[in-house]
Amino acid sequence: MPMPEIMCGIYGCISTDAADKVLEGLRKLEYRGYDSAGLAAIFPEQNGPIETERTIGYVADLVSKANGRFTGSCISIGHTRWATHGGVTDQNAHPHSSDDGNITLVHNGIIENALHLSERLSKLGYKLSSETDTEVIVHLMDNEIKTQSDELTYLDAFSNVISQLRGSWAIAAIISGMDGILVSRNGAPLVIGRGVDNISVSSDVQPFYGACSEVAYLNDGDIFYISGSGISSQEGSMIPGFETLEGVYDEEDPGNFEHMMLKEIFDQPTSLSNVLSGRITADGRKARLGGFSLTPEEIRSLDRINLVACGTAYYAAEIISAYIRKFSNVRSEAFIASEFPARSVCSTNTLTIGISQSGETKDTLDALFDAKKNGSNISAICNVIGSTMSRLTANGAYLHAGPEFAVASTKVFSNMVATGLLFALTISEISDAEQQEIVQSLRELPNLISKQLIDDDGSIDTAAKMIHDSEPPIFIGRGGMSSYLAKEGALKMMEISYIPCLALPGGELKHGPIALLSDGSPVIAIVPSDGKMSLMESSIRECKSRGARIILITDSEGPITELADVLIQTNKTHPDLSPLVNIIPVQLLAYNVGVLRGVNVDRPRNLAKSVTVV
Ligand code: AGP
Repeated sequence: MPMPEIMCGIYGCISTDAADKVLEGLRKLEYRGYDSAGLAAIFPEQNGPIETERTIGYVADLVSKANGRFTGSCISIGHTRWATHGGVTDQNAHPHSSDDGNITLVHNGIIENALHLSERLSKLGYKLSSETDTEVIVHLMDNEIKTQSDELTYLDAFSNVISQLRGSWAIAAIISGMDGILVSRNGAPLVIGRGVDNISVSSDVQPFYGACSEVAYLNDGDIFYISGSGISSQEGSMIPGFETLEGVYDEEDPGNFEHMMLKEIFDQPTSLSNVLSGRITADGRKARLGGFSLTPEEIRSLDRINLVACGTAYYAAEIISAYIRKFSNVRSEAFIASEFPARSVCSTNTLTIGISQSGETKDTLDALFDAKKNGSNISAICNVIGSTMSRLTANGAYLHAGPEFAVASTKVFSNMVATGLLFALTISEISDAEQQEIVQSLRELPNLISKQLIDDDGSIDTAAKMIHDSEPPIFIGRGGMSSYLAKEGALKMMEISYIPCLALPGGELKHGPIALLSDGSPVIAIVPSDGKMSLMESSIRECKSRGARIILITDSEGPITELADVLIQTNKTHPDLSPLVNIIPVQLLAYNVGVLRGVNVDRPRNLAKSVTVV
């Protein structure tokens, strides 16, 4: 069975020294995660086989292997590939070329009917030399060009091939003798950028900063030819217009920090300031989150608000829906996007909000499509400006966390929770005094977190040493927000330490999972000073009397601290803001355990930053 190409990066360019620009573009896409890389290029006046290079490893390995061979090229395409099972080989890396080398292409996504197409190709005498589904596309192109009538163009051939594909794709293809790049998008992101000296194509806008001033967004089903003179299509197709490229590019540079993840954890005072900026009234009393097409009054009269998200974004969504339920009378529920029961929870009097860092997560996009199909209003809360989700919904709020490069989401989680809180307060029906108290605490939060980050008493390090070679840890919390935070803690720990972790509301332990505890099992208890503190105390005692060692994260200085084997003291804040304070030690703990276990914490195995498949 051909192996699907998923979650990869594409960069293409038409310019002088195009391949150099492609290598730079691929470098800026590295944060998406990949295990092999490749590129192809056409030189001025070239006819005959296209020069290609591909390798397992990093873009730096590709540069060494290319050894300057691509200097002077005028058209180039490149690719970073991430395989999820087996097959990290030079043969499976992109680009894939026709047998005569005159056609070559790169692809993200999954060609679902690859098996069927490869059987057809084999009857036509084609042999596949890789395990990928992508290779069928290039042989189909070869066959199409060789068999189509003379008056038809390469774009016609490309369109005919695309019409035979089922599944999802972003494709960039070049053909010897051609002066541009053929591109198509269906379910995987692809954008076109234009600068003074280039026209380029990319999986996201990140690499365009500094190279392009304008961007054009492709839609699913688009098939275009890009050349120095712009974008062209077959008759009748809508060509997207260019718009000004907004935002700024942040280099993936950890500076004085050992890893990007640690830098991003320490970015949180700044990213939190940014998310609050302009969203609190001038008198500092109320939250005012704009950008939604429904007014706060209209939102208040809805039957329900659904939140759809995956992974870390889902845990943020659980906290956000708790805020909405607490501060307004609107029913709200968070759903794992891939499990979204749109038919039962959507109608014209509902709002479904997608929550996402990348704005490209396929499961979340699909849930939003489903919501829309079932009559719901849709909005987005996401980080990446111009992402598919922000364009699909065309309303909502940006997270303003700045680019997040480490695969494990940290600062974006906090900004999601803060944005959700601003949203809930904007539509709230609580008293002005109550709102003012929360808003005041929110404004103090960046400083509070800064202090939390700086005041290192060594307890996180001690806890990390306790966990890194112990029994699998269990995270517990109680009262909604802390139990959602426990789940985020377990996810963070698993993804960057590879230790299986469990997360539970404290009250659930005794209904089964307590059987897992034995002498020395680490239990991480998240206990803010709220109404659930005494219940958490009972849960902790139940664990302790079965030999568990307690890592206690709390702002309390009271008797509960005596139950701690390791005490991680946090700063006091408004109880509703406790997830935003407690997330800091939770993230640092996961980071420290990951480092102790020798994991590449910025690029953990099997994971990618943007998950663009279902
Ligand atoms: C976070 O640490 C994870 N890497 C992952 O769970 C992520 O949050 C999830 O895939 C959703 O991504 P998104 O926010 O880009 O939609």
